[in-house]
Order: sequence, then structure tokens, then C-alpha cells
Amino acid sequence: MSDTLFKDQLPPEISARVTGSVLNEGRATLVLDVAGLSEAQRGALEAEITSAVAAREDVNDVRVVMTAERKGPMIIAVGSGKGGVGKSTLTANLAIALAKRGVKVGLVDADIYGPSQPVIFGTQGAKPDARDNKPVPLASDFGVDHLSMGHLVAPGKALAWRGPMAAGALGQLIEAHWSPDTDVLLIDLPPGTGDVQLTMVQKFKPAGAVLVSTPQDLALIDAARAGQLFDTAGVPVIGLVENMSGYACPKCGEISDPFGAGGVEAAAGRLELPFLGRIPLAMEIRQGSDAGKPPAAGDGPNAAPFHAIAEKLAEWISARN
Ligand SMILES: Nc1ncnc2c1ncn2[C@@H]1O[C@H](COP(=O)(O)OP(=O)(O)OP(=O)(O)O)[C@@H](O)[C@H]1O
Ligand SMILES: [Mg+2]
Repeated sequence: MSDTLFKDQLPPEISARVTGSVLNEGRATLVLDVAGLSEAQRGALEAEITSAVAAREDVNDVRVVMTAERKGPMIIAVGSGKGGVGKSTLTANLAIALAKRGVKVGLVDADIYGPSQPVIFGTQGAKPDARDNKPVPLASDFGVDHLSMGHLVAPGKALAWRGPMAAGALGQLIEAHWSPDTDVLLIDLPPGTGDVQLTMVQKFKPAGAVLVSTPQDLALIDAARAGQLFDTAGVPVIGLVENMSGYACPKCGEISDPFGAGGVEAAAGRLELPFLGRIPLAMEIRQGSDAGKPPAAGDGPNAAPFHAIAEKLAEWISARN
């Protein structure tokens, strides 16, 4: 079967969907990938193709076969150069906020050595089931299935693992039994640019990456380095997030900037990358994360910044689909 047979008859946006075609004794058969199209769009596409191909002299019958093979979830990595800037907090809350918008999200905690997600999701000590030697991700109260090395091995056990083993473990988490309707897998990366990150970008080629930084210069330089890792691997940086931006004093309400402010937005401008938003430094964010009650799941004042960033991410995702 060829996929180029009727290219001349079809506009490019349609011929891009033709995955196979054959012409046999006047009968044309075309196989179309209609993933992501509504019923009405499929009908319109079939009609357009049928009339365009039937116009050929050597064609007297047209058959259109539609397939909607799912290509697996889109992978989006959340990274930073420096540790402790809020990757895990952001990943969990973005996943929850996306789920609230109707996106089916799974979350992989790729921090093999220092997993945080079992605490954030309140699933410490839970043991995932396994089928065919692959783990089944855990459900959560927030509509996000998730899986962490913290669920698979005893705390501290992964510490002795060398690079290749850690990278293999990452594969197990990503290739677990995610529900087949999962749209997006968000990956909470460990800090830095080591083996796990390299495996991530080379083997699993995320569709995009979100970079987190605090407003400090030092964290920014590291974020730029992490950005280069994605860049080199051809993974687009979706945008930068400024975390721990401005602190509202719980006593007097005065806003101060312990880590500076606005630095990430300025850096995004310099690097010509989109700026996705800022998350304030707030006691409740830390407390909620430690207590298995991520702020994006509620409707307190600290939910909104996560939802605003999730909205931009959702736009990016749907433009990609
Ligand atoms: N906006 C915030 N306000 C208050 N505390 C925060 C905020 N963001 C993160 N934290 C807290 O800071 C600590 C580090 O955050 P987190 O674990 O998300 O960072 P990380 O970048 O994933 O760290 P690591 O590099 O160790 O994986 C946590 O205790 C978290 O609850
Ligand atoms: Mg983390």
C-alpha cells in the first residue's frame, strides 16, 4: 500500500491524514487516521475525499477506511536545573487543575532518589497492583492517576542505584498500565541534568517541557541550563513558571519578595520563551503539599495561580492535538 497515490488530488491537511492507499481495477481504497476528529468532521472528510478521488478518470469506486489509533498519552516534562524550586508541587497541582478541566492526566514521579508525590497525593505506603509485570498506577482523590518510585521500593532503597538502573526504573513508571484514555502524562523530573533526565528526553521524547525557577539569578542560570538540555534533544520548552514569587505576610498582609520578583518573566523574555505565570510563596502551599491536600484541589486563594497556568498548558496541549 502506498500513502502517496492520491496526494495530488487532496489538499495537504487532508493528505496528511491518509496513512495508506491502493488503486485496484478502478477501485480506490484509502485508509485515514481520524484520531481527534468529531463524528461530523469525519463525515465531512470522507465526503471531500470521496469526491476528490472519484473525479479521477481511472477511478470508478472509492472506499474510505477510518482508523483512530491512539498514539498513547502526550508526555510533558516538568523540570528545573536547581533542586527545591517547586517542580513536584507544580506538577501535582497542574495535573489536578488539568483534570478539573476535563483532561485525563497521569502523573509520573521520575524523582527516583527523592520521590515527593506519594506525600503530596497522600498515598504513602500504598502498593500498586501489577499486571504482566507492569505496575498499575494508583488512583487519587483528585482525578489524577499517579505512580512513583516511592510506591515501588522501600524508602531510601533506590539511593544506591547507578544511572542505568535509575533510567530503567523511569521506563517502568512511564510504561506502566496507564488507563488507555489518558491524554497527558506529566513527568515530575528530578533536579539537574543527569541520567534520568537524559533518558527521559532521548528515549521518551516529551512533546514539551515546562521549566520552573524561583526569581533568583542562580536558579535562573540553572533553569537556562535545563532548557538547553531539552533544546538539544529537540523538545520544545512550553514556557517558564516563576515559583515562590512574592510573600504575603500572614500577619500584616504586606507583600515582600524573599527571592526577588519578576526575574523569571524577564528571563523568559530574554530567552524568547513564553512566560506561563507565577505562584506566590505561601505557607498554605507548603502545608497542603505536606498533608496530601494540594491547593489546586480546593478553592482557596492559592488554587487560582495553578489554574491560570493549567489553562495555558491546556491551550498548548489542544493546539498540539
Ligand atoms: N509556592 C510555594 N510556597 C510555599 N512552599 C512551597 C511553594 N512551592 C514549593 N514549596 C515547598 O518547597 C519545598 C520544595 O518544593 P518541591 O518539593 O515542590 O520542589 P522540587 O523542585 O520538586 O524539589 P526537588 O528538587 O527536591 O525535587 C516543599 O516543601 C514544598 O512544599
Ligand atoms: Mg521534586
